[in-house]
Amino acid sequence: MEPEVLSSSLRGGTILTVAKGVSGMTDTSRPQSRTRWDPSQYQRFEAERDRAAQDLLARLPADMNPREIWDLGCGAGQHAIQLKRSHPEAAVHGLDSSAAMLDRASAAGPDVDWRLGDLAQWRPEVPADLIFANASLQWVPEHAALVPRLAQSLAPGGVIAVQMPMAHESLQHTLMRDVGGQGPWADCLTGVGTIRPLLSPEAYYDLLARDCADIDIWSTRYLHVLRGPDPVLEWMKGTALRPYLSALQDDAATSAAFLSALGARLAEAFPACPDGATLLPFPRLFLVARRR
Ligand SMILES: C[S@@+](CC[C@H](N)C(=O)[O-])C[C@H]1O[C@@H](n2cnc3c(N)ncnc32)[C@H](O)[C@@H]1O
Repeated sequence: MEPEVLSSSLRGGTILTVAKGVSGMTDTSRPQSRTRWDPSQYQRFEAERDRAAQDLLARLPADMNPREIWDLGCGAGQHAIQLKRSHPEAAVHGLDSSAAMLDRASAAGPDVDWRLGDLAQWRPEVPADLIFANASLQWVPEHAALVPRLAQSLAPGGVIAVQMPMAHESLQHTLMRDVGGQGPWADCLTGVGTIRPLLSPEAYYDLLARDCADIDIWSTRYLHVLRGPDPVLEWMKGTALRPYLSALQDDAATSAAFLSALGARLAEAFPACPDGATLLPFPRLFLVARRR
């Protein structure tokens, strides 16, 4: 599978592509997905999405003095930029498989080393002092291998900080899969993967405990207060629906029909409150650990 085509209008920071042979990445480190991300749609609910990232950043050890920081699945780059501000002496790298996301990131943060690549294949050139991964690892399979490999990419004393939505079994995802499996779009959507189920918190503890100490694992169930028409559908169009919309991108009529059918089911399942708000319960899992 191929990465999105890099935009020719990059400004600010430099994006290095795997194809150009970035050191530390092999030619096989290509993004695994054809999913097309849309930074503007993703950022429509920026305040709600950012809350969990800030809660994760607040739990980083206060005594850290990182020199090598990686934001894996950095998206539009706001957290890599925030980490650069907090640690101006550090080399901060933002890795993402979406050129569209990195295009937005590089325009906002010239002081970060933006990289196009697949985090499933990532190996740092030098051991990392901080690996930050907010709302990205749930897109990558085989956590039983991935999590220990990330922990082993840390320098001694280095910190890994991860946040992942526990959304796979949620009502909105169940409806997305149900609707996706019925109707004229079903054949096109067969086999299209979206976010994956997570392991249990205890399993993540066991995986981290092999190499790390000071393991801090918790979950938070946010109650997002969304407004506007079809807010749950619009929320999902920014994230979980990206692979579905990418699969249907050459058939606008079928894509619109699918979204309309899903929107109707979501509106029924998430009715508006008397004040017009729609409440979206959203549990998230947090992992912070320090390499021994
Ligand atoms: C929900 S967004 C989160 C972005 C950012 N971390 C934030 O908190 O705003 C998920 C990001 O993970 C990226 N992503 C998904 N799979 C990836 C992979 N295998 N390698 C690198 N990035 C990936 C997507 O391109 C997307 O930008």
